[in-house]
Amino acid sequence: MGDLITMDDLTNEEILQVLDSARRLVPVAKGEVYLPLLQGKVLGNLFFENSTRTRMSFEAAMKRLGGEVLNLSSVGSSVAKGETLYDTMQMVDGYADIAVIRHPNQGAAQYSADAVEIPILNGGDGAGNHPTQTMLDLFTIREAHGSLEGLNVVMVGDLRYGRTTHSLSHALVRFGAKITLVSPDALKMPDEIVSDLKNHGGEITETEEMSSSIDSADVIYMTRIQKERFPDEDEYMKVAGIYKLTEDDLSEAKSGMIVMHPLPRVNELHASVDSTKHAKYFQQAFNGVPTRMALLCRSLGIDIPEVVK
Ligand code: CP
Repeated sequence: MGDLITMDDLTNEEILQVLDSARRLVPVAKGEVYLPLLQGKVLGNLFFENSTRTRMSFEAAMKRLGGEVLNLSSVGSSVAKGETLYDTMQMVDGYADIAVIRHPNQGAAQYSADAVEIPILNGGDGAGNHPTQTMLDLFTIREAHGSLEGLNVVMVGDLRYGRTTHSLSHALVRFGAKITLVSPDALKMPDEIVSDLKNHGGEITETEEMSSSIDSADVIYMTRIQKERFPDEDEYMKVAGIYKLTEDDLSEAKSGMIVMHPLPRVNELHASVDSTKHAKYFQQAFNGVPTRMALLCRSLGIDIPEVVK
């Protein structure tokens, strides 16, 4: 209970409990049922890096459960005057009951959690981890396939800087996934993460070629090349646009295969995929609301009713 900094903070049993809770909360997330479980609670929404989905879905989750939200970003706050993260967190500790933090520096979420008493949820720390994204990704996969066990998952794109794939691959191997990592050599999954996945029993294949992995996949998880994390533009230009998934690429895909993307997309996922039965990325983004509702309740020690109506 409390902080969620990496997926190591949740056991497999706890992951499944949160996903079960999230499923019950879908009508609340859609606004069809009002369930003010978090009335009187305040969320600090701390975004030191850009966000659409994580920021808005946390705010929607809190408000749909009757809670309040305080928003802070680097622009428009005293962070722009040079206030330290430590000092900023001391303020949040006094103003909010729980906080989500997104920060460009890997390790900033753990640093923040160590600096305060309130629970901290990692909303993405540099090229590190993004565990609340992983939870909504797992929710999406489980709802589509009925289980997380033994799936064949293909991750494509920027696996070096893409924190969503770091957290998700770690969680999936704990449920027996076979994972194919597709990236150019310059954007390979860091060796220490690949070793960790193998040490957890993961069956991992690394390749630069995408098309031969599609037909046997249960999940294709596309990712954006993370331009903002490259040391210079020339290096980015060498790999920009290297993968492009189109409707034509899916002609031999399994009927139940789902295409996911944490979004935003740039050009790696063509709009022609949107109208196929495989496209799950907009549903995936919505799933952030019930999943983050369940995570907020868990961290605040609030029980979710077995039946929500
Ligand atoms: N998936 C995700 O983290 O999106 P945002 O950067 O818009 O929050």
